[in-house]
Amino acid sequence: MANANAVTAQPELLLAKDLTRYYEVSRGFLKGHAMVKALNGVSFSLSAKKTLAVVGESGCGKSTLARQLTMIEPATSGVLSIDGVNVAQADAATVKAMRAKVQMVFQNPYASLNPRKTIAATLDEPLYINTSLSSAERMEKIKAIVAKVGLRPEHIHRYPHMFSGGQRQRIAIARAMILNPRILVADEPVSALDVSIQAQILNLFMDLQDEFETGYVFISHNLSVVEHVADDLLVMYLGATVEYGAKTTIFGKPLHPYTKALISATPAIREEDRRIQIKITGELPSPLNPPSGCTFHKRCPFATDRCKQEVPQLREIDSRMVACHHVEEINA
Ligand SMILES: Nc1ncnc2c1ncn2[C@@H]1O[C@H](COP(=O)(O)OP(=O)(O)OP(=O)(O)O)[C@@H](O)[C@H]1O
Ligand SMILES: [Mg+2]
Repeated sequence: MANANAVTAQPELLLAKDLTRYYEVSRGFLKGHAMVKALNGVSFSLSAKKTLAVVGESGCGKSTLARQLTMIEPATSGVLSIDGVNVAQADAATVKAMRAKVQMVFQNPYASLNPRKTIAATLDEPLYINTSLSSAERMEKIKAIVAKVGLRPEHIHRYPHMFSGGQRQRIAIARAMILNPRILVADEPVSALDVSIQAQILNLFMDLQDEFETGYVFISHNLSVVEHVADDLLVMYLGATVEYGAKTTIFGKPLHPYTKALISATPAIREEDRRIQIKITGELPSPLNPPSGCTFHKRCPFATDRCKQEVPQLREIDSRMVACHHVEEINA
């Protein structure tokens, strides 16, 4: 369970408890079905003006989590409370009422904007659908947000193909923020951008958060990006939490072998934070057929027989939550 003390404490805007999402997939003709446990019991909380970074390898369930948060699909089980309303298995009316509160920015700004619409039309759509503002009032809002994301007024009459990748991501951010959402979910929002542009876009995210007091869920496989923006850190492995707590706590001293490996593999992070050199080998196992016990045991240099048999529970150690049987010995 999320431990309020382990993270930057404040009243919660977002609370997830044992959130799961399973997908039924076919094994092939006449072979029946199997369950992919893409999200397997994740718990965390987020308050306004704070950023929770979700990190982990490709396939660990980050985008699945994003789809739950944005109510694109319902959770299989668990609680997902947004502003006190549980939306995990909410009916269509509740989802409709809550949807404007959570907005999303995707990885690829080329794919997420409609090429046939001008920027003004793209930004007008959410206002037209979700508010009762007049067209003049909507235009005022469009102009204001365009200025805030660092574009020029005349840009609103242009089409997406007339912009650079960084500018397009600014437009996508404007579209997400124009309704003043309580929560913004950003799924790898700078991964497709040139490194020189990444910092500008990250700064834009931070400026808008200050102004609108939005809570961010920031998904990234890149820990040096996360180091910039996060207040709290949720490290996922095969659909589950391995370490969760304040960023400074975890970057200062990562305890789980998987977190240590991720941090030691990130060259941009300060040398002293990378003293622990742990290399993990092999690929992420298939969530269709996860390893027994601790799902990380096949790749963990510290694994014992116990790890092969017994699933480690998340427990509070050293001001954060960790799921590892041997965390004390490893870090002694
Ligand atoms: N609709 C679906 N049906 C079946 N399996 C799915 C579905 N969506 C996701 N999965 C599986 O769930 C697991 C998690 O996928 P997800 O896209 O959430 O990973 P991710 O962490 O976002 O990866 P990446 O970093 O590559 O974006 C993967 O094994 C994926 O194959
Ligand atoms: Mg993804």
